[in-house]
This record gives sequence, C-alpha cells and structure tokens, in this order.
Amino acid sequence: MSFLEIMRIVLLVVHIVGTSAIVGAFVLQMPWRKGFDFSPMLVGSIVQIVSGCGLIAVRRFDDLPVPELKMIVKMGLAILILAIVIVALVRQRRLVNEERSDAPLRPLIYAVGAAGIAAVVVALAWR
Ligand code: HEM
Repeated sequence: MSFLEIMRIVLLVVHIVGTSAIVGAFVLQMPWRKGFDFSPMLVGSIVQIVSGCGLIAVRRFDDLPVPELKMIVKMGLAILILAIVIVALVRQRRLVNEERSDAPLRPLIYAVGAAGIAAVVVALAWR
C-alpha cells in the first residue's frame, strides 16, 4: 500500500467521523424541544471542509478522478451547514443572555440534518 493510499484512507476515516458528528448530532436531538447543542455540528462541518479538501488533494496527487461538479455541490452543502450552525450559535447566545428558551432554534437542527443527509446522498448516489 502506497503512502498516498494510506493518506487517502486516513482522511476518509476522518471524513466519515465528521459525517457522523453532523448526522449523529441531528438524530440525537431530533426529539429534543430545547437546550440544543450545535457544537458537534460546528466541529463536523469544519472537519468535512478540511478533510474533503485533503481528499481532493490526495486523489489528484495519486492520479485518481475528482468529479468537480460533485465536489462543488458537497462544498456548498458543507458551507451551508457551517453558516446555519454559526447563525444558530449566535441566536442561542442571545436567547440565553435574555434568559429565554432556545426552542425557536429547533428548525435549524432539522435544516442541518437535512443538508447533512443530502450531502451523504450526493456522496453515495452521484457516481
Ligand atoms: C456535510 C458534508 C459532507 C458529507 C456528509 C460527506 C460525506 C462523504 C461520504 C459518506 C463519503 C464516502 C463515500 C464514498 O467514498 O463513496 C465521502 C467521500 C468523499 N468526500 Fe465528502 N462529504 C462532505 C463534504 C465534503 C466536502 C466539502 C468535500 C470537498 C470539497 C468532500 C470530498 C470528498 C471526496 C473527495 C470523497 C472521496 C474519497 C475517496 O473515496 O477517495 N466531501 N464524503
């Protein structure tokens, strides 16, 4: 097994852990009504962007195909998730400071979950 092949597998494992952080945090919090934790989604979206770029680089170095449009769509979804999470964290901090419930943020948990699952569908179904 070459060095590049080992690097690709390591990055792919990190990438799958990042996927789990996003989708797992969504599944866990689906029934929750308040007290949301967006931090695994924040870390997960950053991990996806960094490991995804690493995967593209390793695949290019190893002369493996990189479907560009698919990568653009995945990057768009990862940035969308990151943006939703940042908005959610800012709004949550404001609500907590005002001693109000963060229940209005529930749709944002679902928005992150939907975008995360859409990215998994793109990863698996777009060949
Ligand atoms: C929420 C965001 C993302 C999710 C849920 C996700 C999910 C996945 C999954 C499940 C795989 C494995 C599927 C397979 O190899 O057939 C994969 C592979 C891959 N992803 Fe992502 N991904 C995301 C974001 C990104 C981003 C932002 C990039 C880079 C722009 C990227 C680049 C790649 C590449 C290059 C592979 C292929 C790895 C290989 O087999 O060599 N991903 N992704």
